[in-house]
Amino acid sequence: MFKAIGKVFGFLLLVLGIFLSIGHAVTSLTGGEKAAAGAVEISPEGGESVYWGKGRCFTCHSMGDRGSAVRGPNHGAFGDKFPLPMGARAVERAKERSAKTGQTYTATDYLVESLAAPGAHIVEGYKNEMAVVYAPPISLNLKEVKAVIAYLQSQGGDVNLDALEKNPSEISNKFFAKIAAAGAAGGGDPGAGEQVFASNCANCHTVKKGEGGGIGPGLAGIAAKGVKFVEDSILRPSKSITPGFETWSVTEKDGRKTVGLKTGESGTEVVITKATGDKVPIAKAEIKEMEQDKDSSVMPDNLNEAMTVKDLQDVLAYMMTLKAE
Ligand code: HEC
Ligand code: HEC
Repeated sequence: MFKAIGKVFGFLLLVLGIFLSIGHAVTSLTGGEKAAAGAVEISPEGGESVYWGKGRCFTCHSMGDRGSAVRGPNHGAFGDKFPLPMGARAVERAKERSAKTGQTYTATDYLVESLAAPGAHIVEGYKNEMAVVYAPPISLNLKEVKAVIAYLQSQGGDVNLDALEKNPSEISNKFFAKIAAAGAAGGGDPGAGEQVFASNCANCHTVKKGEGGGIGPGLAGIAAKGVKFVEDSILRPSKSITPGFETWSVTEKDGRKTVGLKTGESGTEVVITKATGDKVPIAKAEIKEMEQDKDSSVMPDNLNEAMTVKDLQDVLAYMMTLKAE
Protein backbone atom coordinates (compact mmCIF):
# COMPACT_ATOMS: atom_id res chain seq x y z
CA MET A 1 0.00 0.00 0.00
CA PHE A 2 2.66 2.52 1.04
CA LYS A 3 4.93 1.37 -1.73
CA ALA A 4 2.14 2.00 -4.22
CA ILE A 5 1.56 5.49 -2.83
CA GLY A 6 5.29 6.16 -3.00
CA LYS A 7 5.30 5.14 -6.64
CA VAL A 8 2.37 7.41 -7.47
CA PHE A 9 4.05 10.38 -5.81
CA GLY A 10 7.36 9.58 -7.41
CA PHE A 11 5.57 9.63 -10.74
CA LEU A 12 3.84 12.91 -9.95
CA LEU A 13 7.15 14.51 -9.00
CA LEU A 14 8.64 13.27 -12.24
CA VAL A 15 5.74 14.78 -14.20
CA LEU A 16 6.17 18.03 -12.29
CA GLY A 17 9.88 18.03 -13.06
CA ILE A 18 9.26 17.46 -16.75
CA PHE A 19 6.62 20.18 -16.78
CA LEU A 20 9.00 22.65 -15.14
CA SER A 21 11.83 21.91 -17.55
CA ILE A 22 9.51 22.10 -20.57
CA GLY A 23 8.20 25.39 -19.19
CA HIS A 24 11.75 26.61 -18.90
CA ALA A 25 12.66 25.46 -22.39
CA VAL A 26 9.57 27.08 -23.92
CA THR A 27 10.25 30.36 -22.10
CA SER A 28 13.82 30.31 -23.38
CA LEU A 29 12.69 29.54 -26.92
CA THR A 30 10.06 32.25 -27.10
CA GLY A 31 12.15 34.72 -25.12
CA GLY A 32 14.59 37.10 -26.75
CA GLU A 33 17.86 35.77 -28.04
CA LYS A 34 19.90 37.83 -25.65
CA ALA A 35 17.75 37.12 -22.62
CA ALA A 36 17.96 33.40 -23.28
CA ALA A 37 21.71 33.45 -23.78
CA GLY A 38 22.49 33.95 -20.10
CA ALA A 39 21.90 36.09 -17.03
CA VAL A 40 21.15 39.69 -17.86
CA GLU A 41 23.03 42.57 -16.34
CA ILE A 42 21.18 45.09 -14.24
CA SER A 43 21.72 47.95 -16.67
CA PRO A 44 19.68 49.85 -19.27
CA GLU A 45 21.19 47.62 -21.99
CA GLY A 46 20.32 44.45 -20.09
CA GLY A 47 16.80 45.78 -19.56
CA GLU A 48 16.40 46.69 -23.21
CA SER A 49 16.98 43.07 -24.21
CA VAL A 50 14.40 41.95 -21.65
CA TYR A 51 11.88 44.58 -22.78
CA TRP A 52 12.06 43.57 -26.44
CA GLY A 53 12.56 39.88 -25.66
CA LYS A 54 11.65 37.59 -22.79
CA GLY A 55 9.67 40.28 -20.93
CA ARG A 56 7.29 40.64 -23.88
CA CYS A 57 6.67 44.26 -22.90
CA PHE A 58 6.62 45.13 -26.60
CA THR A 59 3.45 43.07 -27.09
CA CYS A 60 1.52 45.80 -25.24
CA HIS A 61 3.85 48.81 -25.07
CA SER A 62 5.78 50.93 -27.54
CA MET A 63 8.78 53.13 -26.86
CA GLY A 64 8.25 56.42 -28.69
CA ASP A 65 8.26 55.50 -32.39
CA ARG A 66 9.77 52.08 -31.75
CA GLY A 67 7.17 49.33 -31.78
CA SER A 68 3.48 49.49 -32.63
CA ALA A 69 1.61 48.10 -29.61
CA VAL A 70 -0.98 50.41 -28.02
CA ARG A 71 -2.66 48.21 -25.42
CA GLY A 72 -0.54 49.82 -22.70
CA PRO A 73 0.84 53.37 -22.38
CA ASN A 74 3.71 54.38 -24.66
CA HIS A 75 6.92 54.38 -22.63
CA GLY A 76 8.53 57.16 -24.66
CA ALA A 77 7.58 60.82 -25.06
CA PHE A 78 4.79 60.44 -27.59
CA GLY A 79 2.17 62.92 -28.75
CA ASP A 80 0.03 65.03 -26.42
CA LYS A 81 -0.91 62.04 -24.34
CA PHE A 82 2.64 61.24 -23.23
CA PRO A 83 4.67 64.44 -22.96
CA LEU A 84 7.20 62.76 -20.66
CA PRO A 85 9.17 59.57 -21.36
CA MET A 86 8.83 56.85 -18.70
CA GLY A 87 11.91 57.77 -16.61
CA ALA A 88 10.69 61.32 -16.12
CA ARG A 89 7.03 60.30 -15.98
CA ALA A 90 7.76 57.97 -13.06
CA VAL A 91 8.82 60.99 -10.97
CA GLU A 92 5.36 62.53 -11.50
CA ARG A 93 3.53 59.27 -10.91
CA ALA A 94 5.50 58.78 -7.67
CA LYS A 95 4.08 62.08 -6.39
CA GLU A 96 0.54 60.91 -7.21
CA ARG A 97 1.15 57.60 -5.42
CA SER A 98 2.58 59.36 -2.35
CA ALA A 99 -0.45 61.64 -2.15
CA LYS A 100 -2.82 58.71 -2.61
CA THR A 101 -1.23 56.26 -0.16
CA GLY A 102 0.39 58.54 2.43
CA GLN A 103 3.66 56.65 1.95
CA THR A 104 6.65 58.29 0.28
CA TYR A 105 7.15 56.79 -3.18
CA THR A 106 10.35 57.31 -5.16
CA ALA A 107 10.32 57.07 -8.96
CA THR A 108 11.95 53.66 -8.55
CA ASP A 109 9.19 52.56 -6.18
CA TYR A 110 6.58 53.55 -8.76
CA LEU A 111 8.24 51.45 -11.46
CA VAL A 112 8.75 48.47 -9.16
CA GLU A 113 5.09 48.61 -8.17
CA SER A 114 3.98 48.94 -11.81
CA LEU A 115 5.70 45.65 -12.56
CA ALA A 116 5.02 43.69 -9.39
CA ALA A 117 1.50 44.86 -8.53
CA PRO A 118 0.11 46.43 -11.70
CA GLY A 119 -3.39 46.64 -10.25
CA ALA A 120 -2.28 49.09 -7.54
CA HIS A 121 -2.35 52.07 -9.91
CA ILE A 122 -4.14 51.98 -13.24
CA VAL A 123 -3.03 54.59 -15.76
CA GLU A 124 -6.06 56.66 -16.75
CA GLY A 125 -7.66 55.53 -19.98
CA TYR A 126 -6.30 51.97 -19.71
CA LYS A 127 -7.64 48.72 -18.37
CA ASN A 128 -6.17 46.68 -15.56
CA GLU A 129 -4.61 44.19 -17.97
CA MET A 130 -0.92 44.74 -17.41
CA ALA A 131 0.79 41.35 -16.95
CA VAL A 132 2.26 40.33 -13.58
CA VAL A 133 5.71 40.04 -15.11
CA TYR A 134 7.26 37.64 -12.60
CA ALA A 135 4.41 35.13 -12.96
CA PRO A 136 3.83 32.66 -15.81
CA PRO A 137 3.88 32.90 -18.75
CA ILE A 138 6.45 35.75 -18.62
CA SER A 139 8.19 34.68 -15.37
CA LEU A 140 10.94 37.30 -15.20
CA ASN A 141 13.37 36.74 -12.37
CA LEU A 142 14.40 39.49 -9.98
CA LYS A 143 17.49 40.45 -11.98
CA GLU A 144 15.50 40.79 -15.17
CA VAL A 145 12.86 42.91 -13.43
CA LYS A 146 15.56 45.21 -12.07
CA ALA A 147 17.22 45.43 -15.48
CA VAL A 148 13.99 46.40 -17.19
CA ILE A 149 13.42 49.10 -14.57
CA ALA A 150 16.90 50.51 -15.26
CA TYR A 151 15.94 50.60 -18.95
CA LEU A 152 12.72 52.51 -18.22
CA GLN A 153 14.62 54.91 -15.95
CA SER A 154 17.10 55.56 -18.75
CA GLN A 155 14.21 57.07 -20.73
CA GLY A 156 14.54 60.65 -19.51
CA GLY A 157 15.10 59.84 -15.85
CA ASP A 158 17.90 58.89 -13.49
CA VAL A 159 19.12 55.31 -13.64
CA ASN A 160 19.28 54.58 -9.94
CA LEU A 161 21.25 51.36 -9.55
CA ASP A 162 21.76 52.11 -5.89
CA ALA A 163 18.01 52.07 -5.24
CA LEU A 164 17.68 48.89 -7.29
CA GLU A 165 20.56 46.95 -5.81
CA LYS A 166 22.32 48.22 -2.72
CA ASN A 167 19.82 50.33 -0.83
CA PRO A 168 16.31 49.59 -1.99
CA SER A 169 13.61 51.49 -0.13
CA GLU A 170 11.13 49.70 2.08
CA ILE A 171 8.43 49.84 -0.61
CA SER A 172 10.73 48.43 -3.32
CA ASN A 173 12.11 45.80 -0.97
CA LYS A 174 8.67 44.40 -0.22
CA PHE A 175 8.07 43.84 -3.93
CA PHE A 176 11.57 42.50 -4.54
CA ALA A 177 11.00 39.92 -1.80
CA LYS A 178 7.78 38.83 -3.50
CA ILE A 179 9.48 38.49 -6.88
CA ALA A 180 12.41 36.57 -5.40
CA ALA A 181 9.99 34.24 -3.63
CA ALA A 182 8.12 33.56 -6.86
CA GLY A 183 11.43 32.79 -8.57
CA ALA A 184 12.41 30.36 -5.82
CA ALA A 185 9.11 28.54 -6.25
CA GLY A 186 9.50 27.96 -9.98
CA GLY A 187 7.86 31.18 -11.11
CA GLY A 188 4.46 30.61 -9.53
CA ASP A 189 2.07 33.50 -9.04
CA PRO A 190 1.52 34.21 -5.33
CA GLY A 191 -1.67 36.18 -6.06
CA ALA A 192 -3.26 33.22 -7.81
CA GLY A 193 -1.79 30.97 -5.09
CA GLU A 194 -3.75 32.84 -2.44
CA GLN A 195 -6.94 31.81 -4.25
CA VAL A 196 -5.77 28.20 -4.49
CA PHE A 197 -5.06 28.33 -0.77
CA ALA A 198 -8.51 29.76 -0.02
CA SER A 199 -10.24 26.88 -1.77
CA ASN A 200 -7.95 23.98 -0.83
CA CYS A 201 -6.22 24.77 2.44
CA ALA A 202 -7.90 27.55 4.39
CA ASN A 203 -10.46 25.26 5.96
CA CYS A 204 -7.60 23.76 8.00
CA HIS A 205 -4.87 26.44 8.09
CA THR A 206 -4.61 30.08 9.09
CA VAL A 207 -1.86 32.37 7.78
CA LYS A 208 -2.11 35.37 10.10
CA LYS A 209 0.63 36.00 12.60
CA GLY A 210 -0.43 35.20 16.14
CA GLU A 211 -3.33 33.04 15.03
CA GLY A 212 -3.08 29.45 16.04
CA GLY A 213 -3.82 26.63 13.71
CA GLY A 214 -7.24 25.45 12.79
CA ILE A 215 -7.10 21.74 12.24
CA GLY A 216 -3.58 22.14 10.91
CA PRO A 217 -0.78 24.34 12.23
CA GLY A 218 -0.81 28.09 11.58
CA LEU A 219 1.33 28.85 8.54
CA ALA A 220 2.50 32.39 9.31
CA GLY A 221 6.27 32.36 8.77
CA ILE A 222 6.22 29.00 6.94
CA ALA A 223 8.50 30.46 4.19
CA ALA A 224 11.41 30.05 6.60
CA LYS A 225 11.16 26.26 6.24
CA GLY A 226 11.87 26.51 2.52
CA VAL A 227 10.04 25.61 -0.63
CA LYS A 228 11.18 21.96 -0.63
CA PHE A 229 9.71 21.36 2.83
CA VAL A 230 6.42 23.00 1.92
CA GLU A 231 6.16 21.09 -1.33
CA ASP A 232 6.77 17.84 0.55
CA SER A 233 4.16 18.84 3.14
CA ILE A 234 1.58 19.16 0.37
CA LEU A 235 2.51 16.14 -1.73
CA ARG A 236 3.44 13.79 1.13
CA PRO A 237 1.92 15.10 4.36
CA SER A 238 2.55 11.84 6.18
CA LYS A 239 6.29 11.91 5.54
CA SER A 240 6.93 14.22 8.45
CA ILE A 241 4.21 15.13 10.88
CA THR A 242 4.36 18.47 12.66
CA PRO A 243 4.80 17.86 16.42
CA GLY A 244 1.53 18.45 18.25
CA PHE A 245 -0.50 17.47 15.18
CA GLU A 246 -0.11 13.70 15.38
CA THR A 247 -2.93 11.48 14.25
CA TRP A 248 -4.81 9.44 16.86
CA SER A 249 -7.00 6.48 16.22
CA VAL A 250 -9.59 5.61 18.88
CA THR A 251 -11.57 2.38 18.82
CA GLU A 252 -14.54 2.15 21.17
CA LYS A 253 -15.87 -1.01 22.78
CA ASP A 254 -18.83 -1.02 20.36
CA GLY A 255 -16.39 -1.11 17.43
CA ARG A 256 -16.73 2.56 16.38
CA LYS A 257 -13.43 4.02 15.22
CA THR A 258 -12.57 7.73 15.21
CA VAL A 259 -9.43 9.15 13.59
CA GLY A 260 -8.12 12.66 14.01
CA LEU A 261 -6.17 15.02 16.23
CA LYS A 262 -6.41 14.81 20.00
CA THR A 263 -7.62 18.30 20.80
CA GLY A 264 -8.86 17.85 24.34
CA GLU A 265 -8.59 15.50 27.29
CA SER A 266 -10.04 15.40 30.79
CA GLY A 267 -10.17 12.70 33.46
CA THR A 268 -13.22 11.15 31.83
CA GLU A 269 -13.08 11.90 28.11
CA VAL A 270 -10.89 12.71 25.12
CA VAL A 271 -11.86 14.95 22.21
CA ILE A 272 -10.83 13.94 18.71
CA THR A 273 -11.08 16.50 15.92
CA LYS A 274 -11.57 14.87 12.55
CA ALA A 275 -10.19 16.17 9.25
CA THR A 276 -13.63 17.58 8.53
CA GLY A 277 -13.38 19.77 11.63
CA ASP A 278 -15.98 17.76 13.56
CA LYS A 279 -15.10 17.46 17.22
CA VAL A 280 -15.96 14.06 18.68
CA PRO A 281 -15.99 13.68 22.49
CA ILE A 282 -15.41 10.10 23.57
CA ALA A 283 -15.89 8.80 27.12
CA LYS A 284 -12.73 7.13 28.36
CA ALA A 285 -14.77 4.32 29.85
CA GLU A 286 -15.94 3.40 26.34
CA ILE A 287 -12.47 3.24 24.81
CA LYS A 288 -11.12 -0.16 23.89
CA GLU A 289 -7.94 1.01 22.17
CA MET A 290 -6.30 4.36 21.54
CA GLU A 291 -3.11 4.67 19.56
CA GLN A 292 -1.06 7.22 17.74
CA ASP A 293 -0.73 6.59 14.02
CA LYS A 294 2.73 7.76 13.07
CA ASP A 295 2.36 6.88 9.41
CA SER A 296 -0.56 9.00 8.37
CA SER A 297 -1.30 12.69 8.65
CA VAL A 298 -4.71 14.22 9.21
CA MET A 299 -3.77 16.39 6.23
CA PRO A 300 -5.09 14.50 3.19
CA ASP A 301 -2.42 13.08 0.88
CA ASN A 302 -4.51 13.52 -2.26
CA LEU A 303 -4.86 17.31 -2.23
CA ASN A 304 -2.74 17.60 -5.35
CA GLU A 305 -5.37 15.61 -7.25
CA ALA A 306 -7.72 18.58 -7.00
CA MET A 307 -4.99 20.97 -8.11
CA THR A 308 -3.32 21.54 -11.46
CA VAL A 309 0.48 21.73 -11.67
CA LYS A 310 0.08 25.49 -12.02
CA ASP A 311 -2.08 25.58 -8.86
CA LEU A 312 0.69 23.80 -6.99
CA GLN A 313 3.37 26.19 -8.27
CA ASP A 314 1.15 29.15 -7.41
CA VAL A 315 0.34 27.98 -3.89
CA LEU A 316 4.04 27.32 -3.28
CA ALA A 317 4.86 30.85 -4.40
CA TYR A 318 2.17 32.13 -2.03
CA MET A 319 3.59 30.07 0.86
CA MET A 320 7.01 31.63 0.19
CA THR A 321 5.52 35.09 0.81
CA LEU A 322 4.52 34.06 4.36
CA LYS A 323 7.49 35.42 6.23
CA ALA A 324 7.57 35.91 9.97
CA GLU A 325 9.14 39.42 9.83
C1 HEC B 1 -0.67 42.18 -21.63
C2 HEC B 1 -0.22 43.52 -21.93
C3 HEC B 1 0.98 44.06 -21.17
C4 HEC B 1 2.25 43.53 -21.05
C5 HEC B 1 2.75 42.21 -21.60
C6 HEC B 1 3.01 44.48 -20.29
N1 HEC B 1 2.24 45.56 -19.95
FE1 HEC B 1 2.82 47.22 -18.89
N2 HEC B 1 0.91 47.95 -18.95
C7 HEC B 1 -0.13 47.38 -19.64
C8 HEC B 1 -1.31 48.20 -19.48
C9 HEC B 1 -2.69 47.92 -20.09
C10 HEC B 1 -0.95 49.28 -18.63
C11 HEC B 1 -1.87 50.42 -18.15
C12 HEC B 1 -2.74 49.95 -17.00
C13 HEC B 1 -1.99 49.96 -15.69
O1 HEC B 1 -1.48 51.01 -15.30
O2 HEC B 1 -1.90 48.89 -15.07
C14 HEC B 1 0.47 49.09 -18.31
C15 HEC B 1 1.23 49.95 -17.53
C16 HEC B 1 2.61 49.89 -17.37
C17 HEC B 1 3.42 50.87 -16.69
C18 HEC B 1 2.93 52.18 -16.09
C19 HEC B 1 2.98 53.21 -17.22
C20 HEC B 1 2.69 54.61 -16.81
O3 HEC B 1 2.48 55.42 -17.70
O4 HEC B 1 2.68 54.90 -15.61
C21 HEC B 1 4.72 50.42 -16.75
C22 HEC B 1 5.93 51.11 -16.19
C23 HEC B 1 4.70 49.16 -17.47
N3 HEC B 1 3.40 48.85 -17.83
C24 HEC B 1 5.83 48.41 -17.76
C25 HEC B 1 5.82 47.17 -18.40
C26 HEC B 1 7.01 46.37 -18.64
C27 HEC B 1 8.42 46.79 -18.29
C28 HEC B 1 6.60 45.22 -19.24
C29 HEC B 1 7.42 44.02 -19.63
C30 HEC B 1 8.27 43.44 -18.62
C31 HEC B 1 5.15 45.31 -19.40
N4 HEC B 1 4.72 46.51 -18.88
C32 HEC B 1 4.36 44.31 -19.98
C33 HEC B 1 -0.09 46.22 -20.39
C34 HEC B 1 0.99 45.35 -20.46
C1 HEC C 1 -8.05 18.51 6.35
C2 HEC C 1 -7.17 19.51 6.87
C3 HEC C 1 -6.00 20.00 6.04
C4 HEC C 1 -6.02 20.52 4.75
C5 HEC C 1 -7.20 20.64 3.80
C6 HEC C 1 -4.67 20.97 4.47
N1 HEC C 1 -3.87 20.71 5.55
FE1 HEC C 1 -1.88 21.18 5.72
N2 HEC C 1 -1.81 20.23 7.51
C7 HEC C 1 -2.88 19.69 8.19
C8 HEC C 1 -2.42 19.04 9.40
C9 HEC C 1 -3.28 18.30 10.43
C10 HEC C 1 -1.02 19.24 9.45
C11 HEC C 1 -0.07 18.75 10.55
C12 HEC C 1 0.30 17.31 10.33
C13 HEC C 1 1.38 17.14 9.29
O1 HEC C 1 2.45 17.75 9.45
O2 HEC C 1 1.16 16.39 8.34
C14 HEC C 1 -0.67 20.00 8.25
C15 HEC C 1 0.62 20.41 7.93
C16 HEC C 1 0.93 21.28 6.90
C17 HEC C 1 2.22 21.88 6.68
C18 HEC C 1 3.45 21.73 7.57
C19 HEC C 1 3.42 22.82 8.62
C20 HEC C 1 4.59 22.83 9.56
O3 HEC C 1 4.79 23.90 10.17
O4 HEC C 1 5.29 21.84 9.69
C21 HEC C 1 2.12 22.68 5.55
C22 HEC C 1 3.21 23.55 4.93
C23 HEC C 1 0.76 22.54 5.07
N3 HEC C 1 0.07 21.70 5.89
C24 HEC C 1 0.27 23.17 3.94
C25 HEC C 1 -0.97 22.95 3.40
C26 HEC C 1 -1.42 23.48 2.12
C27 HEC C 1 -0.62 24.39 1.22
C28 HEC C 1 -2.69 23.00 1.93
C29 HEC C 1 -3.57 23.20 0.71
C30 HEC C 1 -3.02 22.83 -0.56
C31 HEC C 1 -3.05 22.19 3.09
N4 HEC C 1 -1.98 22.18 3.95
C32 HEC C 1 -4.28 21.58 3.29
C33 HEC C 1 -4.20 19.70 7.78
C34 HEC C 1 -4.64 20.12 6.53
